[in-house]
Amino acid sequence: MEQIKNLSLLSSLCENVNSAIAVHNPATGDVLGYVPSHNREAIEKVIEKAETAQKSWAKTTAKLRAEILSRWYQLIMDNQEDLARIMTLEQGKPLAESRGEVAYGASFVQWFAEEGKRAYGETIPTPLTDRRIMTIRQPVGVAAAITPWNFPIAMITRKAVPALAAGCSFIGKPAAQTPLSAYAVAELARQAGLPEGLLAIVTSSDAVMVGELFCSSPKIQKISFTGSTHVGRILMRQSAESVKRVSMELGGNAPFIVFDDADIDAAVKGALASKFRNAGQTCVCANRFYVHDSVYDEFVAKFAAEVSKLSVGNGLDDGITIGPLIDDNAKKKVQTLVNDAVAQGANITAGGDDLGGQFFAPTVLTHVEHNMSIVKEEIFGPIAPVIRFHDDASLIDMANDTEYGLASYFYSKDINRIFAVAEALDYGMVGVNEGIISTEVAPFGGVKQSGIGREGARQGLDEYLNTKYICIGGM
Ligand code: SIN
Repeated sequence: MEQIKNLSLLSSLCENVNSAIAVHNPATGDVLGYVPSHNREAIEKVIEKAETAQKSWAKTTAKLRAEILSRWYQLIMDNQEDLARIMTLEQGKPLAESRGEVAYGASFVQWFAEEGKRAYGETIPTPLTDRRIMTIRQPVGVAAAITPWNFPIAMITRKAVPALAAGCSFIGKPAAQTPLSAYAVAELARQAGLPEGLLAIVTSSDAVMVGELFCSSPKIQKISFTGSTHVGRILMRQSAESVKRVSMELGGNAPFIVFDDADIDAAVKGALASKFRNAGQTCVCANRFYVHDSVYDEFVAKFAAEVSKLSVGNGLDDGITIGPLIDDNAKKKVQTLVNDAVAQGANITAGGDDLGGQFFAPTVLTHVEHNMSIVKEEIFGPIAPVIRFHDDASLIDMANDTEYGLASYFYSKDINRIFAVAEALDYGMVGVNEGIISTEVAPFGGVKQSGIGREGARQGLDEYLNTKYICIGGM
């Protein structure tokens, strides 16, 4: 593959294309290579190996685990450029964003390598003099994850590393569109000295079979999923039979609110970053903009001017800020939502064009009403619908009027309003005067139908630990 220096990162590419998945470049449609399509039997073997490996890993010290994971962090950063190229080739995001994601993905490795040492239990004051009470934290066992194509490395490391740091083994199934990045980081874990069987990547053209197997296997104790709410519900239902622990990071419909006292230039900057990162294909992207009547015209003029400067194309080319959408279906969905909004009275203030292939122009829609499909649905594309609002009370109702509750954003300089609105927004995450809030040190996750559980931060480690209560009597 072009310009990848460390060819060991591509050791997952296979020659036998009969039982393989073709990986495409969304910018050109070219086939980049093939990865194996594992069948049920092959994945069952991987699960058995993970179960055996986990038993020994759980007996190692957190210090030793941290040493291995720290080496993995260093290798990821040493190979940042190659990993970024692989990511751009299979996912499409601009190279600068891919470099950023490699560093973001690595930050979870570094953070959890350290945090694994702090899986503290407690001693609890006893109510009976002849007893002593304490808790210890133990790894849940084998963890399995299904990860999406929009963050091909960070979504693997955000799940795998807390699992490994806690003493679990981990099996990841990356999206069929972006398996190369996952295999490449797993290869670096091997080079860092992670014992065999503890971190496995499986790929299959039968995603339904893999999900069902992960959820039903008695050897797997934990399922973590990032993807649509629809699929999350299915996985939760399937996991119910064996009462597995689940973490679900599901869909979002983030409101981005600009109040009358906002710093408009800062709001425009935040809106660009929040909406157009990864061509609008993130669960935490601003999905709908509410702008106060008194600053609406200024915001729209400045925002549309900046959006018109974004440069669409192949993410490997210099100066590109918006890559292709992941596939034809993604583009069709975006086009349908734009057509529907325009048919109902929305204006295209910037963009609006189908640029051929899987490219769609970054677009600003004005005269948008709260009840349009483009406001109700998760767009997952570079479209910014802007709604005018008049009073704070109805605004909060509109912002919370969704089954989702992942991220939300607002701009204001008034400290009283900042606390009141942050508390009133029914979301797992709130960005105040910031358009991008993801970091390894803070808990990422949603409420309502956006999911269960948290990733990153100390809460991310809890997802892979059981608390055991020990009572010592007869003292
Ligand atoms: C996501 O879209 O699921 C992840 C985005 C992030 O980590 O910022």
